[in-house]
Amino acid sequence: APYAIEAHESVPSTNERARELAALGRTDVAVIADEQTRGRGRRDRGWTGPPGGIYASILLSPDRPPADAPLFTLAGAVAAVRACEDVGVDAGIKWPNDVIVEADDDHNENGTGDRETSGRGGRKLAGVLTETETEGDRLSWLVVGVGINANVDPGVLPPGATSLRGTLGEDVDRQVAIRELLDRFHELASDPDAVLPAWRERAITLGRRVRVETEDGTIEGTAVDVTRPGALVIETPTGRRTVHTGECSHLRRV
Ligand code: BTN
Repeated sequence: APYAIEAHESVPSTNERARELAALGRTDVAVIADEQTRGRGRRDRGWTGPPGGIYASILLSPDRPPADAPLFTLAGAVAAVRACEDVGVDAGIKWPNDVIVEADDDHNENGTGDRETSGRGGRKLAGVLTETETEGDRLSWLVVGVGINANVDPGVLPPGATSLRGTLGEDVDRQVAIRELLDRFHELASDPDAVLPAWRERAITLGRRVRVETEDGTIEGTAVDVTRPGALVIETPTGRRTVHTGECSHLRRV
């Protein structure tokens, strides 16, 4: 395995544990757990962590400027998609790093074609939360935390979320998915130039109409590209805008 593995049955948060290891001077470690009791999500949200999920945090110390951190987050999303594919679930990435199973609006499970209940825009299967520490003009460490809703009931997850179990109707081999996650992540983390091309291949946001809520307001338009280190380029009626952070929603196809 590309990383030393520290496996736990249950922890408050694998990201938190990885940060502790960073403080002890460790690096190239993957902290894995079956359950999280205080999982963290982006934007100070939590992350529901029932047993049977995949909770993984990879601690590394790349010799890179802090501005490159988003590349590693995107790499985490690509690796998560590959891990899901490896156990039989097709997924894509909504900018910047939400792993989504796209819903078929016309053939949702209750057959009504109801766009609300079919989760228009897809259901979230996995997410990535990166935490960093900087020293001078270099990252001193970086923790990429990936949560995949694996062998868990969708009913215990927040609205709009799904799981591998919910999508496949059966449980997956977590070890297979975890190995694929770590191998693919390692590959991309060792070759940052490969990250954006791999991300673009799995993006569901590009070519879509989007609304992005940013600190300076809302931008609506067509997502046309992602550029280093992970910014979204949006074509709007008043020109191209490049957005580094924000909440992205996909608008209905016209
Ligand atoms: C998001 O909000 O989409 C990101 C969720 C990230 C959750 C993962 S689970 C493993 C790692 N440990 C945490 O506490 N959070 C991340």
